[in-house]
Amino acid sequence: MAEPENSLSGIAELENPLSAGLESERMVPSLVMVIFGASGDLAKRKILPALESLASRHILPHSFCVVGVARSSWSDEDFRKVAIEATDNPCPTWRRLVENFRYVPGDYSDSTTFERLRTVLEEVDRTIGTRGNRLYYLATLPDLFGVVAKALANEGLSKPQNDESFVRVVVEKPYGRDIDSARKLDKEMHSVFSEENIFRIDHYMGKETVQNVLALRFANAIFEPIWNRRYVDHVQVTVAESIGVEHRGGFYETAGALRDIVQNHLMQVLSLVLLEPPSSVDAEGIRNEKVKALSAVLIPTVDEVASQAVRGQYGPGWIEGKEVAGYREEPGVDPESKTETYVAMELRVDNWRWAGVPIYLRTGKRLPKRATEVVMQFQRVPHLPFARSLARNLEPNALVVRVQPDEGVTLRFGAKIPGGEFRLRSVSMDFSYGSSFLEHTPEAYERLLGDAMSGDATLFIRTDEVDRAWQIVDPFLEAWAEDIVPIKPYPAGTWGPKDADLLLQRAGRRWRTP
Ligand code: BG6
Repeated sequence: MAEPENSLSGIAELENPLSAGLESERMVPSLVMVIFGASGDLAKRKILPALESLASRHILPHSFCVVGVARSSWSDEDFRKVAIEATDNPCPTWRRLVENFRYVPGDYSDSTTFERLRTVLEEVDRTIGTRGNRLYYLATLPDLFGVVAKALANEGLSKPQNDESFVRVVVEKPYGRDIDSARKLDKEMHSVFSEENIFRIDHYMGKETVQNVLALRFANAIFEPIWNRRYVDHVQVTVAESIGVEHRGGFYETAGALRDIVQNHLMQVLSLVLLEPPSSVDAEGIRNEKVKALSAVLIPTVDEVASQAVRGQYGPGWIEGKEVAGYREEPGVDPESKTETYVAMELRVDNWRWAGVPIYLRTGKRLPKRATEVVMQFQRVPHLPFARSLARNLEPNALVVRVQPDEGVTLRFGAKIPGGEFRLRSVSMDFSYGSSFLEHTPEAYERLLGDAMSGDATLFIRTDEVDRAWQIVDPFLEAWAEDIVPIKPYPAGTWGPKDADLLLQRAGRRWRTP
């Protein structure tokens, strides 16, 4: 039915034109969310705050409960306290929901943990009306994903109780540590859950600005026609962080930047840049195209990696006026560690749209600033009808999608400098999220948890995507293991090893400084 003209939403839009299009969101169905690893960092820093925010936006249903499971011997009350303290100013709805939260302490390899979990879940269904709907969140150490899945199956907790209820599982990254372990994990998960009920999370897909790549490309007539080898000179995707490994040295030693960022976040962003227009933005449409795009990325041989990749590790240095330790001095890190905290690489794509267009990816910790961005650098004009000396400061056109922290889009183009001569330089046209939309932008986890609860898998990673991303990354891992690419130090607070600049300079290009 059409909204009456004097409806509240109509008034809101009249008063604030910037709120146009920001309509209220769907409610999620009644359910119990079970967090495995509930006493851990991820639950405290990301999952519980995201749930509180969903509660404050009235997206959580009345019949909603969280059951925490972990080894720490907490009580229900301890867990409720953590849930309340997860945000600075919890809303009344969250406070009300938290009163019913439950906690099951126990070891994941002990079947009695899952017996007790079953009893609690049945009780919650009875008292809160959660109808047997379950969302399991695996926020444990990755080695335990398969163990938990099997234990759920053994206790009869992995299947819906009837045709109306659902059982879904959200799996955190890292999904495997190489292609073999990822395939093994997939086998274990598929022996318990069907693919449509497995929600592999990559929080970059939950970032508004990453999704905006799709809006930019497919909701506008002007970008897509030039989004190809005829106009694009090359693509750069940067995920730069100014933080070091913080208290995660032990974990990071087993991962490195390739596993931590390239295999997942960078590959996900890249797939959205490369994909063909989907017929619809839904779970199958979008993921089919993402897989096709990644399938066209050429997998280098281990020897080719030597000339296509740079790996670095930060040494001591300065960040924002503060002296910081080198990676090898961080707690939990081997003083002779060869784990990379920086990777730059060049990839090629073997299809009609992208043949011959180099794709440069880079990520690093302890770089001068936090910045994630995609740069589409266009070719130079075929002929410049101005004196070269007057166009020295003219750069090729570029479209920059700034994912974070200063979310927006910038178009760089050439303009005449005011004055008598025809002097030219590059200028920018800017769109900034902050000033165009006044609404609170949901955090990535908020968006993704809401989607998983509602059963929308569009932004989650399908098994074949994970597999392809590992296929691309695997030769790099091998080259690291065989020391074919030497590890280069870089001082904290700089843009990585000099070799990363050479990777582009040899083709007459350079990295954009965010
Ligand atoms: C995580 C990595 O997946 O992403 C971290 O494990 C990294 O090492 C983080 O710091 C970056 O996420 P964001 O959202 O801060 O860019």
